[in-house]
Amino acid sequence: MSATGLPSDLLARLEAQLGPGGLLTDEADCAPYGIDWRRLFPGRAAAVARPSNTGQVSSIVGLCREAGIALVPQGGHTGLAGGATPDASGRQIVLSLARMNAVRAVDPVGLTMEVEAGCVVQAAQGAAEAAGRLFPVSYGAEGSAMVGGMIATNAGGINVLRYGMTRSLVLGLEVVLADGSIVDGLRSLRKDNAGYDWKQLFIGSEGTLGIVTAAVLRLVPRPRYTETALLAVHDPEAALRILSAAQDGLGDTIQAFELISRCSFDLLERHAGLSCPLPPSPWCVLLEAGSSLSGLRDAVEGTLGEALERGDAVDGVLAESKAQAAGLWSLRERITECEAHQGKSVKHDVSVPIPAIPAFLEAADRALAEDAPGTVANVFGHMGDGNLHYNVLVGPEHDGAAINRLVHDVVDRFAGSISAEHGIGQYRVDELARRRRPEEMALASRLKRALDPDGLLNPGKVLRG
Ligand code: FAD
Ligand code: MLT
Ligand code: ZN
Repeated sequence: MSATGLPSDLLARLEAQLGPGGLLTDEADCAPYGIDWRRLFPGRAAAVARPSNTGQVSSIVGLCREAGIALVPQGGHTGLAGGATPDASGRQIVLSLARMNAVRAVDPVGLTMEVEAGCVVQAAQGAAEAAGRLFPVSYGAEGSAMVGGMIATNAGGINVLRYGMTRSLVLGLEVVLADGSIVDGLRSLRKDNAGYDWKQLFIGSEGTLGIVTAAVLRLVPRPRYTETALLAVHDPEAALRILSAAQDGLGDTIQAFELISRCSFDLLERHAGLSCPLPPSPWCVLLEAGSSLSGLRDAVEGTLGEALERGDAVDGVLAESKAQAAGLWSLRERITECEAHQGKSVKHDVSVPIPAIPAFLEAADRALAEDAPGTVANVFGHMGDGNLHYNVLVGPEHDGAAINRLVHDVVDRFAGSISAEHGIGQYRVDELARRRRPEEMALASRLKRALDPDGLLNPGKVLRG
């Protein structure tokens, strides 16, 4: 054994495969890879492997398998469930895909794009834009998150309402399996029913079933007109009525419908100096619609005007420019950062059937008031998808795990999910095991054993080790 706790010849063999700069072993160099940005999941990477092509990924996986050493795939390390962070044993190697960052091809006619796993999501969006097309997955972490991480977490974001989650935008995938073999499914076909659609297994598997090395992503036409509005509402029921009316009035042009609580605006003001352009109200809705046909602004103005007339919206602002729209979005996208500045929070990434959102919020607030007095819920999220971030701001006296169970019990009452988009990682492993049906957990374990019989791909994530 070497000082790192790894078999002594493994590092030399990895280094020989990866070449100069491909393997980090110095403790200070490895440290940032061993802990998430919120510092909630401290771990220690024995080394960091940084391959620059799929062949190297395959070799590393093969060498680590022979040595019985676990690998933790890592992209931008922005995940909120501790999925990309190694454990504290100092015996796990982080496999960073960051050097595999090429956009290999963009096809504006076939509406596809082939990219490597380490390509930053924003760079993928930029390449699509340069070709006059849109890659529609968008979220606050897009400047650091990578395509491999986006796929491995089946990321959602603000445009799911119109374009679906990442899963619906992946046409082809290349993965390296736990035995080191490369499976190339980089097809750009819209229709392909030839056999099992195996790529679906890896999308959202959080690095526990295989390593994503490249993907073919689906692009969409870029809407020529976009309208962004912020509306003040009294309560989530009013927001729900506006959503329903917008579905009638704006149809499939609605691409985002986000709910933001007063608490979120208070955090934005306190920690980023950003203020809501509307007079204070308990809730706001951020709505965006897009179309390539003219007439969108009239339609949006009509829908907003009716919401104000009915009294569902008490005030509103429709962006007059791209800069104003970006300003409204930065309010939404900086909530997570401001919440982190505020202190400790117990995060929940839940979904319930959309019509149940008001009742869910009432029940969750009641449960907190009764059983966790002194806490405050910072609620925001993707209301149009039934997905809310019900993040509970806590003090040192509060028990995070108990609050987790409390909120998830309410989610269960509404037949919801304890993770709508962030995944299980290490954060929700116990809660998943507690709440999923035993036969579903048994099936998941069978899949894991079939694809990773030695349990060396991201052990302890999603499923108990
Ligand atoms: P990482 O954090 O590095 O990894 C995430 C998981 O994927 C880990 O389990 C890791 O092992 C695995 N993984 C990474 N790369 C690979 C690979 N190549 N092959 C196999 N497994 C791999 N998420 C949403 O869904 N919607 C949001 O709206 C959203 N907003 C966010 C806003 C902020 C401010 C922040 C900080 C995060 C947000 N997230 C959101 C969560 C997070 O950014 C996403 O889950 C993101 O897609 C993860 O990408 P990443 O490259 O950072 O992955
Ligand atoms: C977001 O939608 O901004 C993220 O998914 C959020 C979070 O829970 O911080
Ligand atoms: Zn989100």
